[in-house]
Amino acid sequence: MKAQKRLGILTSGGDCPGLNTVIRSVVSHATLSYGWEVWGIPYATTGLLEQKAIPLAMHGLDLHGIDPLLCIGGTILGSINKGDTLAHVDEILAGYQALELDALIGIGGDGSLGILNQLQSQGNWQFIAIPKTIDNDVALTERMVGFDTAVNTIVDALNRLTFTAASHDRVMIVEVMGRTAGHLALHAGIAGGADVILIPEIPYSIPEICQHLAELRDRNWRRFAIIVVAEGAHIPLDSSCNPSCEKPACGITQYIADEIKRCSTYPIDVRVSVLGHIQRGGIPSASDRLVATAFGKAAVDLVAAGQSGLMVAWHNGRVMPVSLGRVLAKSPLPVDPNGFLVETARCMGIYVGKK
Ligand code: F6P
Repeated sequence: MKAQKRLGILTSGGDCPGLNTVIRSVVSHATLSYGWEVWGIPYATTGLLEQKAIPLAMHGLDLHGIDPLLCIGGTILGSINKGDTLAHVDEILAGYQALELDALIGIGGDGSLGILNQLQSQGNWQFIAIPKTIDNDVALTERMVGFDTAVNTIVDALNRLTFTAASHDRVMIVEVMGRTAGHLALHAGIAGGADVILIPEIPYSIPEICQHLAELRDRNWRRFAIIVVAEGAHIPLDSSCNPSCEKPACGITQYIADEIKRCSTYPIDVRVSVLGHIQRGGIPSASDRLVATAFGKAAVDLVAAGQSGLMVAWHNGRVMPVSLGRVLAKSPLPVDPNGFLVETARCMGIYVGKK
């Protein structure tokens, strides 16, 4: 017979800065306020399947009194980002039982939270979700762990690229992550001073981009430009590529670069940078640490209140619970093409695609 409540915690899906900050928050609050045991499940559902768990105690998180988990990126628990988990449902449910968990907190994006939601309903777990993703596409929450740091990382890259672009009169085309959504590209593009932002939610035209670049050059004496492309951007409306080819073999960003060179009425020097997983690394920003800490604390309180099937969400400056089922029904959340950020970008003279 266990004397204490045993809380499990896992991180699932692509990593991002701030996951360790959530773990720290959960361990601190569960231990200090409720006196529970917290067990870290390594590599998400793989840990459950293999019946592995690591005890997470306050003193184990300290390094001579310094708490590194507040600020180191990635996840000390490891994570998985593959979709074959549901082929092992019975073993995972058996693992949860064998580890004698009373409740589980899962930190994930919409894909991994969908899998965990299915498992929790089949296993009748007490389960609370915490949203994280650099893609910013989990519905019903205004903030999610990892996004702010990724935006800052991209803006830092855009600052650097702007100086070298200006020195050589070049057009720099920068591909950013975001999967099927354009939040990262839109936020970082506005904050980083982009001239063109191309996102999956808004169709765009290569001749219009070329005209925009020519106007910058002729009217504003701007001989360089920064173009931010979301990795999920579709081929342009006026593509020379076969309309059935949704993804050009060279990749969407190189394709756009080639099309701009082909279509421009004056010689144009173009370079492509794909930021890739740099966007997922680094130490979490102050804002992500704050959100991660508040989410971890709120998730523990929901477990204490006997709640399940809920996700902690940021709403109007507060953390509140929302139904995980409702969140998943509306995720992944795209950029609103008529939203205030797209309008703001256009008012700054940024080309964001067709109106
Ligand atoms: O969902 C986060 C994300 O970084 C996406 O923006 C990107 O498309 C994907 O994960 C990359 O996944 P992986 O790390 O498996 O290559």
